[in-house]
Amino acid sequence: MSHRVAVLAGDGVGPEVVAEARRAVDALGVGVEWVDLPWGSAWYHEHGRMMPADWEQQLRGCRAVLLGAIGDPSVPDHVSLWGSILELRQRLDLWANLRPCRLLPGIPSPLAGRGPDDVDILFVRENTEGEYAGVGGRAHRGLPGEVGVEVSVFTRAACERVIRLAFECAAQRRGILTSATKSNASRFGYVLWDEVAAEIAAEFRLVRYERVLVDALAARMVRSPESLDVVVASNLFADILTDLGAAIQGGMGMAASANIAPGTSEIGIFEPVHGSAPDIAGQGIANPAGALWSAVLMLEHLAEPDAAARLLHALEDVCRDGPRTRDVGGTATTREVGDAVVASLAA
Ligand code: NAI
Ligand code: MG
Repeated sequence: MSHRVAVLAGDGVGPEVVAEARRAVDALGVGVEWVDLPWGSAWYHEHGRMMPADWEQQLRGCRAVLLGAIGDPSVPDHVSLWGSILELRQRLDLWANLRPCRLLPGIPSPLAGRGPDDVDILFVRENTEGEYAGVGGRAHRGLPGEVGVEVSVFTRAACERVIRLAFECAAQRRGILTSATKSNASRFGYVLWDEVAAEIAAEFRLVRYERVLVDALAARMVRSPESLDVVVASNLFADILTDLGAAIQGGMGMAASANIAPGTSEIGIFEPVHGSAPDIAGQGIANPAGALWSAVLMLEHLAEPDAAARLLHALEDVCRDGPRTRDVGGTATTREVGDAVVASLAA
């Protein structure tokens, strides 16, 4: 049986890294039928929008989207993001964003004296509301009294589903769940978040639950990353913490993510955590590891666990033995890393 997978390569380094992920999936022979979607910033300049109005219909029949990155200096970031990835996550209700943060052998970490045994964290990010609910407004534009209001939205239902998922993940891993909060300064949304977490914790007696203020948690990721197993956090907090996570796992080019709605048959979106990296786009030097790892998460979603494991092993082999791109201490091109992954799959 073949899987229909949409490819939204996007902007900047997006197409460069996605090409390698796609080639690796083809080399696995799992039978993927790719559907190319030309959306992104160039499309915006032609059509005045980031995606066609009927994007949902165009995605019909696809089980997954492999996404590169979206964003270009020629389009304001809030326009490109809200017109694409944030729209996709909200409209498809892809409420969980899973981001494995693991330092692979062979990849240098900026944390002195730390190695792969110290960095293995799974971030579970709330993906539909919180600080990115899109609620707010502007008034008195251009006047000295101009205001911008951004409202954080926390609902019991959305907190509950994502925190429960995080507990389930922790139960399958090392049994520690850390909830990022800010309920000292934010008295409403994060207090609700904490209450829901405490209620669910009572159901998971074998998982050690802790509530940590997000600022202290950022410091702890640097000081003692080995103490963290699964971290659940709001949309904004996990966005920030996972860039820090990417840094300690070797850099932006390494980190992968899955946008999913567990327990439904909804499409999943798989994308590296990094953006379009305009500073290195077009040079063929972007690290494809985050995109390749995202393809691993996609294969798991497509119920191809063997193929997923093979691709992850190939990625681990290449990180350990090289070639590596320059952001992780090597000199190789994007393509050379992709070639090595394909060669490792064939070996
Ligand atoms: P970025 O992640 O694109 O780049 C940050 C730094 O990481 C840069 O120095 C870049 O060279 C480096 N980097 C990123 N990916 C890399 C890779 N694969 N290999 C080696 N180095 C890599 O973040 P930035 O610069 O803040 O955003 C650039 C654009 O991307 C903006 O338009 C932003 O809105 C957009 N963006 C899009 C995302 C998405 O599509 N999901 C996520 C984050 C940002
Ligand atoms: Mg981000």
